[in-house]
Amino acid sequence: MPLSQRWTLTRYLIEQRRRFPQASGDLNSLILDVSLACKAIARIVAFGALGEGMPKPADEAAPAGQLNVHGETQKPLDVLGNEIFLRMSEWNGHLAGMASEEMPQPHQIPSAYPRGKYLLVFDPLDGSSNIDVNVSVGSIFSILRAPQAVVDSGRDVCEADFLQTGTTQVAAGYALYGPSTMLMLTVGNGVAGFTLNPNLGEFMLTHPSVRVPEDTQEFAINSSNSRFWEPPVKRYVDECLAGRAGVRGKDFNMRWIASMVAEAHRILMRGGVFLYPRDNKDPNKAGRLRLLYEANPVGLLIEQAGGRASTGRRPVLQVPPGELHQRIGLVFGSRNEVERIERYHQEPERCEAGTPLFAERSLFRG
Ligand code: AHG
Ligand code: MN
Ligand code: MN
Repeated sequence: MPLSQRWTLTRYLIEQRRRFPQASGDLNSLILDVSLACKAIARIVAFGALGEGMPKPADEAAPAGQLNVHGETQKPLDVLGNEIFLRMSEWNGHLAGMASEEMPQPHQIPSAYPRGKYLLVFDPLDGSSNIDVNVSVGSIFSILRAPQAVVDSGRDVCEADFLQTGTTQVAAGYALYGPSTMLMLTVGNGVAGFTLNPNLGEFMLTHPSVRVPEDTQEFAINSSNSRFWEPPVKRYVDECLAGRAGVRGKDFNMRWIASMVAEAHRILMRGGVFLYPRDNKDPNKAGRLRLLYEANPVGLLIEQAGGRASTGRRPVLQVPPGELHQRIGLVFGSRNEVERIERYHQEPERCEAGTPLFAERSLFRG
C-alpha cells in the first residue's frame, strides 16, 4: 500500500474519537504521548550496546542495579524507560497520577502541571532479562479513569485509586521492540496494530483488525517450573506433549521467549496459548506476572481480539485488585484452549497426580 494511503496512529485515534462526538480528545492526546515514550525507548533499544541515548554509568539519573519492589535487580533500561514514561506523560494535563512496576508508590503529577482525569499504569520494559541478549522486549500500558473524587479535588493519588478491575480499562496496549517496532492498541473497539516507520518516526496502521484464532497447536510455558505446577496445568501440558497419540489427537509446538509481551504478540498474530499459572513454588506469590500492568492490559487486548484471558479459574479482567503490585496466575490466548484449561481447573479430581490416566502421560514427572 502506498505510504500516502496508510493511516497514522493519530488518524486512527481521531477516527475512533468520531464515534463519541462529545469526547474531549484528552485520551487521544495521552495515547500519543505514551506512543512517543515508546518511540524514545525503541530508539535506545535499537542502539543496543552502542549506548546511544543511555546515560553514562556514572550518571545518577539511571542508578541501575537497585532492587525494585519485586526484589528484582533493575537494569539501566528499566530505570530509564520508567523515566521516559513519566517525563513524556506527566506534563499534558490529562493524568491524575501514574504507577509502574519500577516504583513502589504511585507517581504524583508535579505541581507545575494541571491534573486530569486518567491514570496511567505501565511496565516500562517487559522481558528486561532479554535486553542483554538482543531478544525482543516491550513496554506495556493501561489507562484507567481516575476516581471522580480525585478529579474533583485534584488531590494526590494513592494506591487505592488504582485498584480497579481490568474491565474498567479505557485503553490498553504495548509496544514491541522487535525486528520492527510495533504498537498494539485497544481503545475498546477491537485491536489495531501499528508498525513504526523509522523514516517518518510515525506509527502506521498495518493491522487494522487483529483477531486471535479460536484454535491452536502452539503453547508457551516455562516448563522448568513443572514440578511446582498444580494438577490441572500438568494435565493440560501432558496432553499437549502426548500429541497425536494422546487424548488431543494432534501434535503441539512449544515456545518460550521469556518476554510476555513478545508471546502476547505472537498469539495476537497467529494464535496460541500462554501460561504463567499460579503454582506452589513460593506460597507468598500468587503467580509470576503482575495484575495491573501486565495481566490486565494484555488481557484486554487478547479479549478485544476475540481470545480469552484467565487466571485459570476466572476471567482475569474480573479480578478485583488488592494491591498495586499484586501478582496473579495468567493464562491467555486462543479461546478454546483457555476454556479447556479453565475446565480442567473446575474438575481437579480428574487431574490429581497418581491417577493411572494422569501418571501414564506425565512426561514431566521426575
Ligand atoms: P519484567 O521483565 O517486566 O520483570 O517481566 C518479565 C516477565 C515476563 O515478561 C516473562 O513472561 C516472565 O517474566 C519470564 O519469566 P521466567 O524468567 O520465569 O521465564
Ligand atoms: Mn514485565
Ligand atoms: Mn518490566
